Amino acid sequence: DTATSSRKRDHLEICYEQPVEAGDAGFGDVRLVHNAIPECDMDAIDLKTRFLDAKLDSPLFIAAMTGGHPDTLEVNRRLARAAERYNLGMGVGSQRAALENPELEGSFTVVREEAPHAFLCANLGIIQLRDHGIEWAERAVEMIDAQAIAIHVNLLQEAIQPEGDHSAVGCLEALRGLCEEFSRPVIVKETGSGISAETARKIFGAGAKAIDIGGYGGTSWAKIERLRATAPELAELGEAFLSWGIPTVVSLCEVRRAGGPTIATGGLRSGIDIAKSLALGADLGGMALPLLKPAMESEEALSATIEGIHRHLRVAMFLTGSLTVADLRHTRTYITGLTRQMIESNDKTKDPARRLHGY
Ligand code: FNR
Repeated sequence: DTATSSRKRDHLEICYEQPVEAGDAGFGDVRLVHNAIPECDMDAIDLKTRFLDAKLDSPLFIAAMTGGHPDTLEVNRRLARAAERYNLGMGVGSQRAALENPELEGSFTVVREEAPHAFLCANLGIIQLRDHGIEWAERAVEMIDAQAIAIHVNLLQEAIQPEGDHSAVGCLEALRGLCEEFSRPVIVKETGSGISAETARKIFGAGAKAIDIGGYGGTSWAKIERLRATAPELAELGEAFLSWGIPTVVSLCEVRRAGGPTIATGGLRSGIDIAKSLALGADLGGMALPLLKPAMESEEALSATIEGIHRHLRVAMFLTGSLTVADLRHTRTYITGLTRQMIESNDKTKDPARRLHGY
């Protein structure tokens, strides 16, 4: 076991056995506007959609989770079989462990073996991209014959894990270099702290083709690392940063203004949350934790979960009069509470602090 590899197994065990969610993604503050006379047939609703040239049968995306330890192979096999069966897009977990030690590639290559037709996203940390260059990105894509690569940013986790990297200097330059030279689309992805409007502009400015929100309010790395921490000062840090981050709904509204393809992840817990995300401008709705648990149990459990998510999504589409995913993206929403306040406080003309400082 390398350190990176055994960490992957620890993460799955912790996520399966312990409460690892924190905060509120904001979906409770969003309401889709009900259409009492939708003039549409629920059985004719079409979940098909497109993302970065891929044709998908549903906007449900299997968010990046795992690989890199032999014990993660079976979970990846089940997730991949589901991606193939339902024609969903899927991201694999960080491929760092297998790039460091090619003997661990099997837990990733199984994904393409089981999902020969699926839209697959490779995954690499921005720090590893900076330190190892485009060659690692190319190897990650080749390993699973991916159509795109997600470069993940996770500085909160790096800051509170014992083996974390503490410098982010040079990351944006590395991203720009990759986007300029790489043959596949680059997606930039947070892992639980969300992306602001300013960061989204930098990311699209660097040439990335899409953003995966990875917002606050779902799986919390502060919580996972706190549970894993053996040093008391790191456990205390994890505790102190439990409520850090931009909630998914707020982040989605900010990133949307930068105007590029978006995957909403972080605290989506039903097909209704996917419908809300799309109405707020996302192209796909990604889930990690809700799919991880059934995937650790059986193929049947995972299929039942996915079908339940699709059932909720279809009813939400029916009740908003959305025959297609494109219709759903034009559905009106009500936004209330703290989520609304956060979205409005970003409006320069309405924010007293910004007026005071004159910027
Ligand atoms: C993740 N996530 C993640 N993201 C990433 O880009 N690379 C990775 O290696 C991982 N690894 C990982 C492992 C496990 C066990 C979980 C639960 C999650 C983050 C994931 O893709 C997603 O952005 C967040 O988990 C938020 O979604 P949920 O879990 O709230 O639906």
